[in-house]
Amino acid sequence: MTQAAASMTTALAAVRHAESELLLSTYERYPVLFRRGRGCYLYDAEGKRYLDFVSGIGVNALGYGHPAVRKALKQQADRLIHISNLFYHDYQAELARRLTKISGLDRAFFTNSGTEAVEGALKLARAYAHMHSANGGRPRWRVLTMSDSFHGRTFAALAATGTKKYRAPFEPLVPGMRFVRFNDVRDLERKFDASVAARTHPGRGRSSPGNARIHQPGAGAHSQAQRTADR
Ligand SMILES: Cc1ncc(COP(=O)(O)O)c(C=O)c1O
Repeated sequence: MTQAAASMTTALAAVRHAESELLLSTYERYPVLFRRGRGCYLYDAEGKRYLDFVSGIGVNALGYGHPAVRKALKQQADRLIHISNLFYHDYQAELARRLTKISGLDRAFFTNSGTEAVEGALKLARAYAHMHSANGGRPRWRVLTMSDSFHGRTFAALAATGTKKYRAPFEPLVPGMRFVRFNDVRDLERKFDASVAARTHPGRGRSSPGNARIHQPGAGAHSQAQRTADR
């Protein structure tokens, strides 16, 4: 073993030991200790280079160490880091302008995590359904979600997660979720009755050691599901 490899093994063992004593063990990790990144490459404590196909599970699209990103972060760190949502600052509306332009959607809702984005979407769907249940009609409240999916760790996102072993330890969860077999448009149509407020996005991602995979709906299934939702 080279000296660099030995020192990485020691550093990794120290971090793993510290985490095992100090953190709640909610994540399985791969046994690699990253120290820096550049462009689309990551470098571990040994200096070994990895081509990064994970990109923070799809949320780190700008790569690592881009000069423009570093410059903006440094400049802003010198001015102002955080002021809460109680006040205005120059950038939220500007970012929302760019996001709505790219996405074609009307408005933005900023959250700190994917699971909060899912919570926000579920709440929005229920609120919309309540507002539009005309003349005392029964509100739509059910959410159709996919089997074997993952949507996050907060209660409603967890309730929508179609993997029993994630849900079971925390039951009872938020009611109203109904699971549809992935890629099964007939099952979706059967369950898409008048009580349904929303369906979750059919693309499913999951990444943990020994279980790294992303599923996409089969050809035609996504558009057929969209047509069913639009009706
Ligand atoms: C498909 C999917 N949805 C939602 C989430 C939750 O995102 P976050 O971990 O940022 O709360 C994840 C996270 O792995 C995910 O893979």
